[in-house]
This record gives sequence, structure tokens and C-alpha cells, in this order.
Amino acid sequence: MTEEITVSKTATKEERYQQLVPQIKALSEGENDLIAVISNNMAALKFGLDFLWVGCYRAEGNELVLGPFQGPVACTRIPFGKGVCGTAWQEKKAIIIADVEQFEGHIACSSESKSEIVLPIFGKEGEVEWILDVDSNQLAAFDETDEKYLQQVVEIIQQKLNVA
Ligand code: SME
Repeated sequence: MTEEITVSKTATKEERYQQLVPQIKALSEGENDLIAVISNNMAALKFGLDFLWVGCYRAEGNELVLGPFQGPVACTRIPFGKGVCGTAWQEKKAIIIADVEQFEGHIACSSESKSEIVLPIFGKEGEVEWILDVDSNQLAAFDETDEKYLQQVVEIIQQKLNVA
């Protein structure tokens, strides 16, 4: 398989997502290995939208363990209910943080990270199996547009979880 992700760098954020998400869908078709799919999806998001850090954590026991990601090295384990990621896991919902310094308990993996969006990825039984975390080096980089399109990426991953 050779695929190249192409996204117009001059387009608006929404247009970039509109160009990128179908390519992520195409990239994931015909491959049911979860790690392979997540790995490529993270690379596509990182290079398509120029985020600082894009990655997934796997829920394992009472902590999140670092999975496929693109960006600076990151914390390997996050306890349930801790940080933005552990809170999204506990609350089973997406969280957008405009200024990470204002979020009590934020876990700073990179000093460059200024804002963050985290979405839970659900397994067959409705339990959180993975967490998608995206960080920006800009304040207030994320809004409902990011949540809408990142949710579509989450659904692509969820479909793979539900086949396995
Ligand atoms: N900031 C996250 C930790 C993960 S890194 O940003 C990659 C948190 O507070 O959960």
C-alpha cells in the first residue's frame, strides 16, 4: 500500500479536516490490525493538521498506557481520573482545554503544549478502551469543529475495535 496524505496548508481548519478525514477512512479500509490503523491515523492527523502531539493511550487496568503517537516523547502511564486524559476516561466524554495551565491536575508531558482535546474511544460493551489525545502549542487551538472531525476518526478506530 502506498498512500500519500494531501491537505491544503492554506485552507481553513474545517476544510483541512474535510480533506483529511476521507483520506484517513481510505487509509484504514482493508486493514483490521488496530495498532497499524491507529499508527497511520495518528501520522495523518499530525502531518495533515500540524498539531504538536497526536496519540492514543490504551486503558489497561486502572491506568492509561502510551500507544501509537506522533510528536515529542510523552508520559507512558496516566492513572484513571488523572490529567485531562484520565478525566476523559473517568467521565466517558470529550474534553477541550483552552489553557492547560488552568486545568488542575493537567499532566505536562511537553512544556510546549498549551491546549488540548481528548476523546474517549469505546469498545463493544461501551467501555473506554482507548483515549485519543491531541495537543497544540497554541492556546485555545481546539473547538467544536475539532471535536466533530476527531470524533469521525474515533469512529473509524471504534469500527476496528468492534471487528477484533
Ligand atoms: N496532558 C495529558 C497527558 C498526555 S500528553 O499531553 C501527551 C493529560 O493531562 O492527561
